Amino acid sequence: MKNLKLSLIAIFFFIPISLFANEGMWFLMHIERLNHRDMQKMGLQLTPEEIYSINNQSLKDAIVQFNGGCTASIISSNGLVLTNHHCGYNAIAELSTAEQNHLKNGFWAKSFDEELKPQSLYVRYFVRMDDVSERILSQVNNSMSEKEREAAINKEIAKIQSENDEGGKYTVSVRSFFQGNEFYYFVYQDYTDVRLVGTPAESIGKYGGDTDNWEWPRHTGDFSLFRVYGDANGQPASYSTENVPLKSNYHLPVNISGVKENDFAMILGYPGRTNRWMPAEGIEQNVKYAYPAWVEGSKLSMDVMKKYMDEDESINLMYASQYAGIANYWKNRQGMIDALTKHGTAETKRKTESKFNKWAQKADNIGTYGNVINDINNYYALTNEKAQHDNYLLSLLRSSKFSVLPYRLGSGFENYANANEAKRQELLPRLKAFINGAYTDYHLPLEKEVLAEQLKLYTSKSNYGLPDLLSEMSGANFETYVESIFNLSMFSSKEGAMAFLDYPDPEILANDPLYKLSSALLTKYREQPEALEQPLNDYQRSYRLLVNGLKESGISKIQYPDANSTLRLTYGKVRALPKDSRNDAAVNNYTTFKGVLNKYVPNDDEFDLPKDMLNVNKGKDYGRYANENGELSVNFLTDNDITGGNSGSPVLNGKGELIGLAFDGNIEAMAGDVIFDKDLQRTINVDIRYVLWLIDNYSNAKNIVDELTIVTK
Ligand code: ARG
Repeated sequence: MKNLKLSLIAIFFFIPISLFANEGMWFLMHIERLNHRDMQKMGLQLTPEEIYSINNQSLKDAIVQFNGGCTASIISSNGLVLTNHHCGYNAIAELSTAEQNHLKNGFWAKSFDEELKPQSLYVRYFVRMDDVSERILSQVNNSMSEKEREAAINKEIAKIQSENDEGGKYTVSVRSFFQGNEFYYFVYQDYTDVRLVGTPAESIGKYGGDTDNWEWPRHTGDFSLFRVYGDANGQPASYSTENVPLKSNYHLPVNISGVKENDFAMILGYPGRTNRWMPAEGIEQNVKYAYPAWVEGSKLSMDVMKKYMDEDESINLMYASQYAGIANYWKNRQGMIDALTKHGTAETKRKTESKFNKWAQKADNIGTYGNVINDINNYYALTNEKAQHDNYLLSLLRSSKFSVLPYRLGSGFENYANANEAKRQELLPRLKAFINGAYTDYHLPLEKEVLAEQLKLYTSKSNYGLPDLLSEMSGANFETYVESIFNLSMFSSKEGAMAFLDYPDPEILANDPLYKLSSALLTKYREQPEALEQPLNDYQRSYRLLVNGLKESGISKIQYPDANSTLRLTYGKVRALPKDSRNDAAVNNYTTFKGVLNKYVPNDDEFDLPKDMLNVNKGKDYGRYANENGELSVNFLTDNDITGGNSGSPVLNGKGELIGLAFDGNIEAMAGDVIFDKDLQRTINVDIRYVLWLIDNYSNAKNIVDELTIVTK
């Protein structure tokens, strides 16, 4: 074994190291300078200009951010949008009823006018970006406190926004990179009329459920289709039957010739958040305090929710999306705890920090960097209990509607009650609309039980001090407590809330028990303890200096900024994991439809399939979607560097053609958000041939296939 390894190292020694550069979430505008030669060696055939151009049509025109948290691509000249099933999930559930259950049975519009408009869903097109670091950093100096610094930066940001938004046509976002050491602005255009075109049944789109989530070998048809509409001039417009499918500047061709090991693969998308410079003690804090609380709180809510969801399909539809979101991060955070512990990530970072600290103590550096590590460690030591507390509280706020709604609505009520008659008339329609929107799709018994259980957990676990209202309540009977405050509060029903608008008495609001509870919880969540003010200031400053110093000293080799929901490109290749007996495929870089059927468990929550899916396979004729072994490939692996937010991102070959759809990561590499492991980390993708087979052969939605530009070689 050992020898083999040595000889492999000897062989690899002569291959340029850059061949393994799968790490990195790169800015499109820097591809030419930083990555293009490397990408060409690996198989890219496009020029940088074909990937990102401000003036000419380029790949970037076909990549959109989907509803804030996911990515999608444009795949037809008529604004057809491809994203993951789990990204469209909320909209699909909202458009479903127990009688017309699109989530359960799937849905395919046969023409534009059958497409379904969910209440709110938007896609964001990327127009351009630029570096404004010098401009922004010229506004700050070292004697400023962090608060003063932030204020000065925000002032400049506001100017940049108004200079570039063309009178409100564009959304302009200025973001900080490298922990506040660089700044870029981004210009976007948002379209809010987005309609559901098609989706497979949930049993296909979420096949494997939470058991398979974050795992390989995987067999999920995680895709759904939407369409962007605009006005007659192609401009964004709110929903109207007059709107028309948006003509695309550029759409991705789809390549169905298949993938094999080592094929070049790049992914463009909107990764949400990584923390690749997170200090050692921050990792320790997450592993020991923050994440365990997150995991425990999430599981508690999931158990309560599931009980009610299983009883009644209409309750299931109300909570399916929220449940999936909580379950997704419940498993993710446990995966992070395990991976960070197993790989000793904090220890690795500690070594880097100790190297940094030696450099920082040198005469030239000590003035600027001398206290950096101390300040950082001091802050984490002071905030461990707070981090645990905050995560219990957050899991309460995340899963209990009535922990948040009364405060949010109550703030509006307060304004309303204190306003004169004219102002009230102005506020009234907005408040009514808010109430109508808020009091739909919930099940009161579930809400009461989630709140009671979460309060029980929160009050019993916090070592950090509770809001006054709850401080005496540890061990109390929370079922009775919750029951009684719901009985007394105007916020426990839509009618109660509406009634306030007729008799807006501030005193009644101030004494409302759900309002009092909700205010206490949110105030606690936002509390900035005075004792932490200075340590926080020093920590923020030192974290920024740490990143700057790590780069300046050459101790860190990282050249790309952390993910922060801005458009990035990552490139790598199709890459197998070691052979796995659970995968029937010839190479452990893809899975087959046979594997789907092997996992099938009739009527199971997670591994059921539509009945006709079984018959369809009898013929085993996958036509042009078959791979070279005559199988139907379902999912495949690449070694790209992605994270949450990349969901729905297109996977492209060297010619920029669509070969798959990224939808997940592997649990063993869950430390990836704070430290990239070039050997372990994989992206899990749906093979585009499975997507097309499901649309074309299985669902017979030929109208959609006809829209696509299909390439067969
Ligand atoms: N892990 C996927 C992501 O974060 C989401 C998968 C959704 N599926 C599920 N079973 N919850 O992008």
